[in-house]
Amino acid sequence: MPTEDSFVRDCFGGEMIALLDVGGEGRYATAMNLNPSAEKTLGLDKGQPIPNRIDGRAEDIPLPDSSVKTIIVERTPLRNESIQELARVATDDATLVFRHPVDEHSDPHARVKEQINGEVDIDQLELDGQLVQQLTIRHVKQAAPPKRYSHR
Ligand SMILES: C[S@@+](CC[C@H](N)C(=O)[O-])C[C@H]1O[C@@H](n2cnc3c(N)ncnc32)[C@H](O)[C@@H]1O
Repeated sequence: MPTEDSFVRDCFGGEMIALLDVGGEGRYATAMNLNPSAEKTLGLDKGQPIPNRIDGRAEDIPLPDSSVKTIIVERTPLRNESIQELARVATDDATLVFRHPVDEHSDPHARVKEQINGEVDIDQLELDGQLVQQLTIRHVKQAAPPKRYSHR
């Protein structure tokens, strides 16, 4: 049974993960992409393999506590379990960025703001021609009860 430290060393050369794109398909060259799908689902590259992929879901991230410095979640389902998992794998002082379509009837990031503490900044931008709300939380404080990593 690997320890948390040996798991990180074996998978990532002993480095913490600098950038994790949850539901990512390869938009960011330096990111690790956490995705249950092995293939891209959007755009002209649909069906092509997702690079730098970690096979997994946001609700059950196969990484140790406090192992990721920056997390981005773009247009990917956000369940309460996922929000708790993001808080668990974020390092102290991490930055989290969420981008989800603007909805005039409800705040797409309301539950994130309730569950993760830090310095909040809200903006709007276009992503592939779609208007999205960008929520940035800097200097994340541990908001979720830490869960021990177990090898799956
Ligand atoms: C609409 S696409 C967005 C892709 C990319 N993030 C972007 O904005 O261009 C949603 C992506 O989320 C992935 N996905 C779906 N459920 C997920 C989950 N529970 N955890 C992580 N990724 C998930 C899908 O496989 C798909 O790649």
